[in-house]
Amino acid sequence: MKRDFLTLNDLTRTEIRTLLKSAARWKSKRAAGKIGGPLQGLTVGMIFNKPSTRTRVSFEVGIMDLSGRVVYMQGGETQLSRDEPASHTARVLSRYLDALIIRTFDHAEVEELARHAAIPVINALTDSYHPCQVLSDLFTVQERRGHLDCLKVAWVGDGNNVAHSWINAAAIMGFELALAVPEGYDPDDAVMKRALLQADMPITVTRDPIEAVTGAEVVNTDVWVSMGQEKEVEARRDVFRPYQVNAELMAHAAPGALVMHCLPAHPGEEITEDVLESEQSVVFDQAENRLHAQKALLEFLILGLAEKDRAGSN
Ligand code: CP
Ligand code: NVA
Repeated sequence: MKRDFLTLNDLTRTEIRTLLKSAARWKSKRAAGKIGGPLQGLTVGMIFNKPSTRTRVSFEVGIMDLSGRVVYMQGGETQLSRDEPASHTARVLSRYLDALIIRTFDHAEVEELARHAAIPVINALTDSYHPCQVLSDLFTVQERRGHLDCLKVAWVGDGNNVAHSWINAAAIMGFELALAVPEGYDPDDAVMKRALLQADMPITVTRDPIEAVTGAEVVNTDVWVSMGQEKEVEARRDVFRPYQVNAELMAHAAPGALVMHCLPAHPGEEITEDVLESEQSVVFDQAENRLHAQKALLEFLILGLAEKDRAGSN
């Protein structure tokens, strides 16, 4: 049966651990100049209804590194933008492609495509989740810390897509997550409820950034205005100002805590320039690791097994 990656809940803890190991292998391989891989003769489609730098380029380069081919479609160029049903689009694209990556607004659109596609569908960000980002962020944390166990991760900012994927990750992988979110911007109730049922470590929401960051080994933030929320800029700037990640706030975190941001960042808004450029900041590693983690993901979803596992079964 085909597998999709719409949220991190589509993977088990064991599968995520396997993917993180596979991402490390793909990273070493690339560093050794060994390009080429198991997608020879296979084609991946990408539909983007929102702008992107990292997600688009890391997926395109990753697919080419794996010897696959890419068809990139801007949302407005497909018949989806003229109301062709997602169910028809999914069935048509399944006849040409081996996987479909989509970035869009409404998460339900991605679910609808996945329901009707015969090929794996990968969520490259919706208003509700950004699982590819957080999968590779787990890889970055593991790379720096050596493990994901007994970690305290803080989230400071909006309780929307990236935060939701961190909530999923904390519940699946079993680390503590403390979110500091202004009133009115809480994570979705259903996302929290499911995570709390599953979690074996605390997942908490507070209004107080100091409380969330105290003792945290990872401090994470995101833009105050996500794609599609441009009309709310002024209101959001006022509400989120006390939630800036700055040196004063970082002084409450564990010594040497990692600073994470999925990027794009707005220095001087959600994070100060000095913190973003500090030695604790791993934001550019995060961006690079999208490439390696997504190669592991593509291999897993399209071919079912990691390269090492396939080699082992030969
Ligand atoms: N972090 C991230 O998804 O970046 P892009 O919007 O540039 O893809
Ligand atoms: N929350 C941000 C993430 C960008 C990668 C947005 O949705 O615009």
